Amino acid sequence: MYVPSNVFTNEDMTKYMETSDAWIQERTGIKERRFAHRTQETTATMGIEAAKIAIARAGITAQDVDFIIFATLSPDYYFPGCGVLVQRELKMKEVGALDVRNQCSGFLYALSVGDQFIRSGMYKNVLVIGSEKQSFVLDFNTRSRNISVIFGDGAGAVVLQPTDAENRGILSTHLHSDGNDAELLAVYNPGSHANFWKKDLADYDDAEMGAMYESHDMIDKGQNLPVMDGPAVFKKAVVKFPEVIKEALNKNNYQPSDISLLIPHQANLRISQFVQQKLGLKDEQVFNNIQKYGNTTAASVPIALCDAWQQGKIKEGDLICLAAFGSGFTWASALMKW
Ligand SMILES: CC(C)(COP(=O)(O)OP(=O)(O)OC[C@H]1O[C@@H](n2cnc3c(N)ncnc32)[C@H](O)[C@@H]1OP(=O)(O)O)[C@@H](O)C(=O)NCCC(=O)NCCS
Repeated sequence: MYVPSNVFTNEDMTKYMETSDAWIQERTGIKERRFAHRTQETTATMGIEAAKIAIARAGITAQDVDFIIFATLSPDYYFPGCGVLVQRELKMKEVGALDVRNQCSGFLYALSVGDQFIRSGMYKNVLVIGSEKQSFVLDFNTRSRNISVIFGDGAGAVVLQPTDAENRGILSTHLHSDGNDAELLAVYNPGSHANFWKKDLADYDDAEMGAMYESHDMIDKGQNLPVMDGPAVFKKAVVKFPEVIKEALNKNNYQPSDISLLIPHQANLRISQFVQQKLGLKDEQVFNNIQKYGNTTAASVPIALCDAWQQGKIKEGDLICLAAFGSGFTWASALMKW
């Protein structure tokens, strides 16, 4: 994992918007988050830093990587994706680079794709990265306080490799989506939708061709900023998290009590507590670090995985469950024998 050194506390947040440390901690559990250096750190550079550590710990070099999968909602460029920047900066061979755009469940989708390439025998070393620089997208203003207090910056990465050992590694992954609520947690602009899905956004000017991707009107009305119906996200998340975790357990004939450690996407501490309660898990079976890093979207699962491992909370043979839910809505789980 790699997180920026700049710690931004809830108290710091009160300098920009009407909020309080008590409100943020009570509703989300977050105490502080990291924000990237504005011009010296990008989503790609943070992902690269995490990747370097993962590559070293896997005992390989960057030249051994066969495929790159990069999950993010805050890419350096709208296109091309961040994967090619990793390939360039780590001086890798001309391997494939895939960007995944599944927001909070992006890392688990990326992990699942990588797992399939390993299982099929196509690749031996797949680099999977989740990285976000949300501080650049967030609106530091009271109008966006329900969103801006939640998110943080950082990156996590893993290297996937095959194993001959029976019943080891990634046992199964489970991916889902329901686009009915696609607009409830989103950034609408810039985009090519021309208000086709939502009629209540800024008018497009009547230029006949081109340059319709973003307009001054959109920016003036703040319609280039993230939107989130927090209560709706909360309600759906506390149903879908337990569902997809149980799906993974059932598939492999395990019970919730068999889980050594559940590492949920760090959306909100209250969501994790609901999930823990619904599954009847003990405190030591669930890992949370949102207090320190906020919600880092595609980076949150690999950051939490790494943090838990570095704290000695993951040992060989442990049954580890990863789960995520987020914008789309999309949700996913992965069950692993470490
Ligand atoms: C965002 C969230 C913390 C808001 O909590 P909530 O109890 O649902 O709050 P609401 O949005 O209903 O707002 C309640 C009040 O708090 C206020 N409020 C919102 N954000 C605030 C903030 N940062 N500081 C102080 N007050 C805030 C609202 O303006 C509202 O005030 P009002 O009652 O006077 O209108 C909560 O909905 C949540 O965690 N949802 C899930 C979000 C999530 O996990 N997103 C990531 C998905 S991966």
